[in-house]
Amino acid sequence: MYPASPMSGADDLEAITGSALADVAAAGSLAALEEARVRHTGRRSPLARLLASIGSLPPEERGPAGRGANAARRTVEEALAAREAELEADELGARLAAERVDVTLPGDPEPSGSLHLITQVRRDVEDIFLGMGWDIADGPEIDDEYHNFTALNTPEGHPARSLSDTFFVEGHPDKLLRPQTSPVQIRVMETQAPPVYVICPGTTYRRDDIDATHSPMFHQLEGLAVDEGLSMADLKGTLLHFVRELLGHSADIRLRPHFFPFTEPSVEVDVLWTDRHGRPQWLELLGAGMVDPNVFTSVGYDSERWTGFAFGMGIDRVAMLRHDVPDLRLFFENDLRFLAQFP
Ligand code: DAH
Repeated sequence: MYPASPMSGADDLEAITGSALADVAAAGSLAALEEARVRHTGRRSPLARLLASIGSLPPEERGPAGRGANAARRTVEEALAAREAELEADELGARLAAERVDVTLPGDPEPSGSLHLITQVRRDVEDIFLGMGWDIADGPEIDDEYHNFTALNTPEGHPARSLSDTFFVEGHPDKLLRPQTSPVQIRVMETQAPPVYVICPGTTYRRDDIDATHSPMFHQLEGLAVDEGLSMADLKGTLLHFVRELLGHSADIRLRPHFFPFTEPSVEVDVLWTDRHGRPQWLELLGAGMVDPNVFTSVGYDSERWTGFAFGMGIDRVAMLRHDVPDLRLFFENDLRFLAQFP
């Protein structure tokens, strides 16, 4: 392609440069450009040979010949760099075009889940009490007779202690699946001095057959307030506020006398509210009462100084009431057609 003469004059330089620039311009790919680079600037290129031959020129010619050859090499190198940038841009453009994703195509979405209705209701109830400045406490689901019954003033022989109501752990006569969240009251008072304002939500277990309103596994939410001078009026005011936050401001409550071992006096609390057909009705919502002084004694609180009230409600029942769910089993069958109605 090139004259292979060892010595070249200005004409040769021009020819070499022209031929290099033409090859660079004609290179259609980065690979072709690389070939042109080797051919025109590599160790065995005419330009390299020309530069090498300068040393054998007469001294007065070396300067001008060297400057000319170096200028030619810079010209060729600049052309190579410019063409390389062009080709890279072209190749990037081509790749982007080939690999383009059509973002307007419909995707293949994973259906997103949601919290179980029981969890939603539990959190709503928690929020109402947190709003009144109460704390939330947790306790073990497998607990002992002492925390479940003895410390809660439930005498030996009380029906709740018997095998027919409570699941006991085989081989551990003292261990049981808690049938109520009330033992968390004891655990809180054992670790904390009054005043106490705490709710304890959690799972509870009883030997019940499954039907529309019973399940061997269900959820309760316990409440306990201990302070100086608390009375039945505080209990009623707290529960009325709670029910109205939960069900709307037309809701009301009534207290009926009842018996629980750990409260004296004890009440059952019904709620009056308007169902979705516009019918007002009374429904039993929870058990409550003023904490029995014997309970304070078992945790070492001074029952002369402190008074308190407590309550326990079924979270599942609250969820049924609030969302007009007719059958408790719907909560535990995990049928998405039901669950997805409460996103
Ligand atoms: N533990 C009772 C139950 O499971 C509910 C209850 C009633 C809790 C009265 C209380 C209370 O804290 O004061 O039926």
